[in-house]
Amino acid sequence: MNQLNNPTAQAVDNVLIYIFGFSLILLLGITAVSVYFVVKYRRSKYPEPTSDVEGSWFLETLWTVLPIIIVLTMFWYGWTNYVGLREIPADAMEVKGTARMWSWVFEYPDGRKESKLYVPVNKPVKVELYSVDVLHSFFVPAFRIKRDTVPGMESYVWFQAPEAGSYDIFCAEYCGVGHADMTTSVEVLSEEDFERWSQASDESGGEPRGLVVLNEQGCIGCHSLDGSENIGPTLFELSGTPRQIERDGQTIEITIDEDYLQRAIRDPAVELTKGFDPMMPAYDEGTISNDDLQAVVDYLLGKVVVTPAAPSGSRLLEVNGCTGCHSSDGSEEIAPTFKGIGQREVTIEADGKEITLQVDAEYLRRALLEPNTEIVKGFAPMMPAADYLSAEEIDAIIEHLLQQ
Ligand code: CUA
Repeated sequence: MNQLNNPTAQAVDNVLIYIFGFSLILLLGITAVSVYFVVKYRRSKYPEPTSDVEGSWFLETLWTVLPIIIVLTMFWYGWTNYVGLREIPADAMEVKGTARMWSWVFEYPDGRKESKLYVPVNKPVKVELYSVDVLHSFFVPAFRIKRDTVPGMESYVWFQAPEAGSYDIFCAEYCGVGHADMTTSVEVLSEEDFERWSQASDESGGEPRGLVVLNEQGCIGCHSLDGSENIGPTLFELSGTPRQIERDGQTIEITIDEDYLQRAIRDPAVELTKGFDPMMPAYDEGTISNDDLQAVVDYLLGKVVVTPAAPSGSRLLEVNGCTGCHSSDGSEEIAPTFKGIGQREVTIEADGKEITLQVDAEYLRRALLEPNTEIVKGFAPMMPAADYLSAEEIDAIIEHLLQQ
């Protein structure tokens, strides 16, 4: 996705157009004059070389001073816009972006880590750039920002997105076999979506989406969740419950199911629960999207299992970049695949000897913390030790891997 009305893209594009425009004018002008002289002073007309050049102080001065002025305006325009790219607006939100072979991780001030860069719309964002291994380059074409990440050195970029959407992030510095796959995205969210995103402690934890929607839309104001009847019927234990409804002036009994609940939200006045007044507004797609409607219905029918916000192994593997090298589909271009790793025998090389062993929790722990002491045969010792993970996180990863 592309957009041009953001400050960093404008700064870069304006300078580019200015310099390119002058270059084009000069190219066309010089070419035209050359062609004119070639034709005018062709050999058939002037067989003998002639010269009647008389100096002109006026012309000499003009074509010395004019190019100096043009070049200096190019410099000035470029410099002021470059300074704009390096000066961070005072209200910028800060995110730490770390590159490593071959993925990105973004860390928020509250410690939350993500493999995509989630930001709110219309807010300047400063990305502090680091690398843990080799040179990479953080490149977001939509915002015209590109900056190398250098091991041992901090650098930064900033941008501000005026529209919500998803924008590509690339690594623009060749960094090894996984370089071309080192892509992710900036996810620009509306203010409300970003607020919701910030509050969800973890994708797998937090409140189920259906309940979030019920709260947001004020449904709970009339419908209780605990079985007590209120202005509207309770939403407690709906699945498979028989219910008397009035439709076309007749009372009929139906069993509550997915279809009924969807109709009851989209068009509540058509089938009215007996004993209640037709006062609920209809919620169309503009108010509750189809996805959210499904989430609400699933929640009401008890199909959503609320999981505690424990660190999930698969998520840890993703945000810590493991999946940048280890595939889950069996392909092994860079590193051993995670597919079936829990039931596998591996041949490893340690102290110059080859040993075959069954993958178990202890082996995985060693492979995480001292990855280069026992190398799986056929692979290079290039994995960084995962010693930045907490003991709990390592346990969660091991448990997850053993189930693969
Ligand atoms: Cu990282 Cu190329």
